[in-house]
Amino acid sequence: MQLLDIGTYLTTDLTVGSDVDDDAVRALHAYPEDLNRPWIRTNFVSSIDGSVTADGASAGLGTPADARLFGILRELCDAVLVGAGTARAENYGGVSLSAEEKARRVASGLAPVPTIVVVTASGSIDAESRLVTDTEVKPVVVTSAAADGSKVAALRTAGVTVIEVSGDTVSTGDIVATLDDLGFHRILCEGGPGLFGQLVSDGAADELCLTISPMLVVGSAGRIAHAAHASDLPMDRAHVLGDADGTLLTRWVRARHRAESR
Ligand SMILES: NC(=O)c1ccc[n+]([C@@H]2O[C@H](COP(=O)([O-])OP(=O)(O)OC[C@H]3O[C@@H](n4cnc5c(N)ncnc54)[C@H](OP(=O)(O)O)[C@@H]3O)[C@@H](O)[C@H]2O)c1
Repeated sequence: MQLLDIGTYLTTDLTVGSDVDDDAVRALHAYPEDLNRPWIRTNFVSSIDGSVTADGASAGLGTPADARLFGILRELCDAVLVGAGTARAENYGGVSLSAEEKARRVASGLAPVPTIVVVTASGSIDAESRLVTDTEVKPVVVTSAAADGSKVAALRTAGVTVIEVSGDTVSTGDIVATLDDLGFHRILCEGGPGLFGQLVSDGAADELCLTISPMLVVGSAGRIAHAAHASDLPMDRAHVLGDADGTLLTRWVRARHRAESR
């Protein structure tokens, strides 16, 4: 697999056709320095026609370039933020990194392994699931006042940090405040569409890394963001990388951040 930069800042810095190694991919995805609040980057893979799953899971859309980026993005973050629907559908375990990846993290001031932070209104995370048992770092569960008390108790007994907020759901403000309180500023949100839709609606999505997988899926699968009401969030293109198999790795940053940094 050879990643080609097919247009980093296309209009000003045309580097079409140059190879991109892992160090360059890491550099292209560096979080802003000196963050004083959680910066929410989200990563999704989609088919060309906008489907968020193939055969019921995102893995059906995967390509080598997407897998490579997925691992690099996990290496760069303090915490992986994920909705319970995705954690259940994709049978999440903890983040698994090589010794080399952990060493790079520690050298740059990060914990050896990022923490998974799961958002759930119902508290329906099985204390026996891989999320809790197959992990080096216990997850954090952020849940609502409506959560199932017995499930919350079982999670706490299993060593999980459970944060209960008031109300029937977890607001974007609660999510951001919780991440901030935990000292997590480099956030990688891995969806799903319900959680991402809320973040976009509330103007809290700072950045989107969207892989376009070279396939059409059709069917009835959803898109990468959904919410009860439509809303716009203008984004600037940061870069586009392409693999020989047709995969496109695109990165988009909320328009005002680019304007601020110019
Ligand atoms: N293509 C990709 O890159 C990609 C990435 C991620 C997911 N997916 C796919 O997307 C599908 C899942 O979609 P989804 O919309 O159900 O995902 P989701 O957003 O991960 O899950 C929704 C569930 O997460 C919890 N949740 C999310 N936001 C919440 C909030 N603000 N407050 C309280 N609870 C919250 C709730 O769980 P409770 O029911 O426990 O209350 C809710 O029912 C799966 O098929 C998965 O494979 C694809």
